[in-house]
Amino acid sequence: MATSGRKPIIAANWKMHHDHLVAIQVVQKLSYRLEKDDHEECDVVVCPPFSDLRTLQTLIESDKIPIALGAQNCHWEDQGAFTGEVSPPMLKKLIVEYVIVGHSERRQLFGETDETVNKKLAAVLEHEMAPILCVGETLEERESGRTEARVVEQTRAALRGVKADAAAPCVLAYEPIWAIGTGRVATPDDANETIGAIRGVLRDLYGETADTIRIQYGGSVKPGNIAELMLMPEIDGALVGGASLDPDDFARIVRYRV
Ligand code: 13P
Repeated sequence: MATSGRKPIIAANWKMHHDHLVAIQVVQKLSYRLEKDDHEECDVVVCPPFSDLRTLQTLIESDKIPIALGAQNCHWEDQGAFTGEVSPPMLKKLIVEYVIVGHSERRQLFGETDETVNKKLAAVLEHEMAPILCVGETLEERESGRTEARVVEQTRAALRGVKADAAAPCVLAYEPIWAIGTGRVATPDDANETIGAIRGVLRDLYGETADTIRIQYGGSVKPGNIAELMLMPEIDGALVGGASLDPDDFARIVRYRV
């Protein structure tokens, strides 16, 4: 457990990689590389494409693998005429515990707005899963000194109408867009400062509950930079894209202390 008292959470976001057959191999390898202590020290989550979830549910349950499943997106309605969408109750039935909400790729490439992110977040909470809410600034926003204002605005908008008791399971991920898939990482101090500003919003909204909510960093996290990021008092974990595809690399990230 970190000195903050918050249990670190390290999540793999596979994005649109690994079909369900590859997914079995990757999660099996990961489970061999991780030890009991690793799971006691850190929550480990894998967020595969939707088409892998049923297969991974079966594997995780039959082999009793202590890795949690996450989804990368969802709709906010329970059911209806929404071709191509997947609802929170459908995910819940697949033992999904976390749902990424508002990833920058969804905001930038698929037209997600603060309003739809807010609806999705509320729907995920209503179905007793934990949203992983992503916020982060573009390079242009960063260079014009608007990083903090941007993430504060995104955080407030996503959490609109969510009360303190409902907000407790939320996980947030600060993912500066210029650091995603680029090999450029925010410096640990920078990431810590911006995450501190996000926690400031949570304190304002939720008082003491804010100190229990975990905030991850995401953006070019690798085995070689995770330890210095995790030393920062405000950073409670990582949301890992590219380096999570390889079970050896991802296991090294989870085992950053060893
Ligand atoms: P990379 O780790 O590939 O930069 O991706 C980060 C990310 O978007 C995780 O959600």
